[in-house]
Amino acid sequence: MPTKEQVTESLDEVLVPGVMRSLTKLNLVRQVAISDEKIDINLASAALSQETQEWLKSKVQDTIRRLPGVKDVNIDFAEMKPKDVNEIKSVIAVMSGKGGVGKSLVAGLAAISLARRGFEVGILDADITGPSIPKMFGITARPTGSETGFLPVLSRLGIEIMSINLLLPHEDDAVIWRGPLIGKAITQFWEEVLWGQLDYLIVDLPPGTADAPLTVMQSLPLSGIIVVFSPQELAAMVVRKAVKMAQEAMHIPILGVVENMSYLVLPDTGKRLEIFGKSRAEEMAKAAGAPLLAQIPIDPQLAHLCDEGDIERYYSGSLDAFADALVKVVAANVM
Ligand SMILES: Nc1ncnc2c1ncn2[C@@H]1O[C@H](COP(=O)(O)OP(=O)(O)O)[C@@H](O)[C@H]1O
Ligand SMILES: [Mg+2]
Repeated sequence: MPTKEQVTESLDEVLVPGVMRSLTKLNLVRQVAISDEKIDINLASAALSQETQEWLKSKVQDTIRRLPGVKDVNIDFAEMKPKDVNEIKSVIAVMSGKGGVGKSLVAGLAAISLARRGFEVGILDADITGPSIPKMFGITARPTGSETGFLPVLSRLGIEIMSINLLLPHEDDAVIWRGPLIGKAITQFWEEVLWGQLDYLIVDLPPGTADAPLTVMQSLPLSGIIVVFSPQELAAMVVRKAVKMAQEAMHIPILGVVENMSYLVLPDTGKRLEIFGKSRAEEMAKAAGAPLLAQIPIDPQLAHLCDEGDIERYYSGSLDAFADALVKVVAANVM
């Protein structure tokens, strides 16, 4: 008979249809018991349709029977909800004082830089009325699921994504919901999406300090918040307001600040031009009482890749530094 490790290793090769992440990474393997005669495997049913469960049953049968010495395999499903299965180490929300400063872009770049480091990453698009994550990642697939929840959609880099945009009949449909409904959608994304095992879940918040960011802060176990701003912002006041809400009212640490559209590199000379005025990074970091994690330049190639749904093809040295800084501040705040 194979060992438990060998069985688990084989189960890690079984990809769940609809999301294409493995049974083990989705944390669906609840128990493996090996006796002289047979192997019993207990899987969680969370968000899996009946059809998917049947498919997985026969796939796991085939896979495990191929291991040497296996005679009998018994597979059953335990009724479980996604929230009982999910194991997320750090939940990081990206916030801004106002819209259009590149909050979703920073959320996307944070996820990409961490995924490239080999971490398991997901993005929860909590901007219910202005979702832009799927477009940036070029995702149009519809999430599958059952009565207990939804499977996220996987990006090309392997980032799990859930957004209201993926559930709307048409990508361009407007979501005109009132506060309570928006709050409900966000908590559903947290509780009813099968995220499985993740190192980082990045939450793209709607702009400002209104209802929706408040719901996220109240109902999600955030490790901390990243505040995004641009040099256009007239006062550090907007940042201070966001910081106040997070830190003082909700007791959530500010992990750091990111300045977007910091400067433009002139293609001919390589000279940095601060077209929106002098960088306010130091001032904002001070206002937030947190480190400056990144300064992202205005990059026409980045804008182009976002429009094309190809943000994952963006490379820049500063992204590596961003990932390093993020990992460091998260570790420092989780301790
Ligand atoms: N640093 C940048 N360089 C080039 N384009 C950018 C940059 N930051 C943002 N953009 C452009 O602005 C758009 C809006 O950014 P987005 O992240 O959606 O803003 P927000 O989420 O704060 O409303 C992006 O799709 C992108 O095209
Ligand atoms: Mg946005």
